[in-house]
Amino acid sequence: MIFTSDNAFGVAPEILEALGRVNGGGAASYGEDEITKGLQNRFSDVFERDVAVFPVATGTAANSLALATLTPPYGAILCHEVAHVNVDECGAPEMFSGGAKLIGIGGSGGKINSDALVTRLESLGQKGVHQVQPRCLTITQSNEAGGIYSLEELRRLTGIARDFDLKVHMDGARFANALVSLGCSPAEMTWKLGVDVLSFGATKNGAMAAEAVVFFDPALVGDFEFRRKRAGHLFSKMRFLSVQLEAYLKNDLWLKNARHANAAAKRMADGLKAIEGIELVSEVAANEVFAMKTMKTLVALTMLSTLGLSGAAYAAGDAKTACRADYEKLCKDTQPGGGRIMKCLKANEDQLSQPCKDAMAGAEEKMMEKKEQGGMGEGQ
Ligand SMILES: Cc1ncc(COP(=O)(O)O)c(C=O)c1O
Repeated sequence: MIFTSDNAFGVAPEILEALGRVNGGGAASYGEDEITKGLQNRFSDVFERDVAVFPVATGTAANSLALATLTPPYGAILCHEVAHVNVDECGAPEMFSGGAKLIGIGGSGGKINSDALVTRLESLGQKGVHQVQPRCLTITQSNEAGGIYSLEELRRLTGIARDFDLKVHMDGARFANALVSLGCSPAEMTWKLGVDVLSFGATKNGAMAAEAVVFFDPALVGDFEFRRKRAGHLFSKMRFLSVQLEAYLKNDLWLKNARHANAAAKRMADGLKAIEGIELVSEVAANEVFAMKTMKTLVALTMLSTLGLSGAAYAAGDAKTACRADYEKLCKDTQPGGGRIMKCLKANEDQLSQPCKDAMAGAEEKMMEKKEQGGMGEGQ
């Protein structure tokens, strides 16, 4: 099993089957096919109002194109400081918007702090033409730290957006996971609270490559279709994207998958909590688990992962120190993952610093103990 990310997994059988089905015969191109057209009704049913829906292939495209449509080049997009749009999209929102500025706001648990947001928005109103103009707030649900905003927290943020005349975008790469966790309806988590546009994720929850940009107010669509074409996301064989979304929604597959993923994350968190030396960074709210390990535990888990088991948690705290200098000196060019750094450190054992050697020895000890106790089964 690979615990690194929901991106590491395959495609839900129902979606693969649907892709195979649509492969027979021909269909109109560039989104003029019946499946793509049918998505409008399907999404309108799900969201309990008429929406405009546009499939794209990646979350970065969904976010960037949505934000670009809502924000002029001289505009500012307020987001959490660790928001995917801010730190993991290689400047795509800035590029597609023609230069809008992303402004990161702090807040614990990956949640935008509402007071800090207000303070920043007030300061942005001070210099007139010399400053970017705040136009959009983007909120990630579930967020980058694995957290989920409650409906009340969302309402507070969208209320601030309304007060400052901002449009609201939601990055819903893990929308389904948040939804089943809160137990509310799609409408309650979005437009009923004042969300204008949603990046509706499917890839992380079972699709091969399909996300949808959902406009709750069709008047906001504006030039979106031209932007999508220019970005290369108007697929000629659009039915292959659309059918993924159709199958994703059919028989509530999206909700079933999200419940399954959330339950698995909870199980994993419970298991991790029971291991000495591991602390959860925060309680698990959806399908993401973030944990900290002490160095000994980190090395032990990495060793186990070279035996075919994978560690899920992120290294932090102590883990950043004991072998850091050794890593910098000896293994900096090694691609992380799959136990490669550990192997590199082992291969250079004679050059390791004493603290790092000790940590390695501790790891081996721990591994032997585990083996004697019968070892950890895959998936534990
Ligand atoms: C919060 C969030 N938004 C958006 C994305 C979409 O990214 P991609 O362009 O890789 O599909 C991701 C992917 O990890 C994400 O975690």
